[in-house]
Amino acid sequence: MNDDFSTALRQTAELMDRELSEFLPESDNPEKQLHSAMRYAALSGGKRLRAFLVIQSADLFNVSRDYSVRVAAALEIMHTYSLVHDDLPCMDDDDLRRGVPTVHKKFDETIAVLAGDALQAMAFEILADPLTHPSGDVRASLVRKLAMAAGGHGMVGGQTMDIYTEQDDLSVATITRLQQMKTGALITFACEAGAILGHADPAKRTALRAYAHDLGLAFQITDDILDVEGTSEEMGKATRKDVDAGKATFVSLLGLEKAKIHADMLSEQAISHLDVFNSKADLLRDAAEFTVKRNK
Ligand code: IPE
Ligand code: IPE
Ligand code: MG
Ligand code: MG
Ligand code: MG
Repeated sequence: MNDDFSTALRQTAELMDRELSEFLPESDNPEKQLHSAMRYAALSGGKRLRAFLVIQSADLFNVSRDYSVRVAAALEIMHTYSLVHDDLPCMDDDDLRRGVPTVHKKFDETIAVLAGDALQAMAFEILADPLTHPSGDVRASLVRKLAMAAGGHGMVGGQTMDIYTEQDDLSVATITRLQQMKTGALITFACEAGAILGHADPAKRTALRAYAHDLGLAFQITDDILDVEGTSEEMGKATRKDVDAGKATFVSLLGLEKAKIHADMLSEQAISHLDVFNSKADLLRDAAEFTVKRNK
């Protein structure tokens, strides 16, 4: 990958580790297990691509990093909750995440459910805090958009389809909708948040949303490809699980080669939506390339 992009993504990850560490201190209360589990889940690594998208989208409009970094942290916290619950025995039943035991393995199932719940609430607490933006309208808009992206018509709706859709019921339309909800919605929020913070005009906001729409789909298709072709060491999670679990994915529908062509096409299409931003969006262009070329 291009050096500028790799450096910027690494810097975002370091920045998120510092921010999240402040948001999630250890405690000495009787419920300290919960706080340890939240911290453990949020600070065990991760690419921090969603944070990167928030910060880079906001940079297009010269938004102060004081604001965009907090929104990025809120979104990574929401994403972390989704992973903690995704790994539970009643969902994907995974033991390894980001190279370490999943929260229910390290702690227990009750703590994992509760840590996820509290992480979700914390994401909204951060967005609603006046430190995140001086304008109440901007904060309300961020809270509403994240609620819509995370809820029953967004990530949680997609997770429901992911568990209950039979492979036999699959069509390209169904799988596209599933992936768009399950993964695309939070990625779209990442880019829209930049536009909201930056009071972007409708044309630029639409362009960013279109970019994120294609990127989100390309991201989950690549995750499904890596489940087949990636290594557990690099991914930090178990691989070759989707087939056994009978998951409905683009790979199960189209096969590996066609899924790869589809992801590459979506990545190129995502990049084409950024023309309106000229060279200012180069790191977002790189992010679209990274999304389909990554090995973890
Ligand atoms: C994993 O997301 C879950 C999906 C939506 C595919 P990431 O691949 O972004 O996970 P981390 O945050 O880098 O660990
Ligand atoms: C998870 O998708 C998407 C979420 C909303 C958490 P996966 O179940 O494919 O993610 P991994 O492969 O466990 O990271
Ligand atoms: Mg899952
Ligand atoms: Mg999973
Ligand atoms: Mg997966």
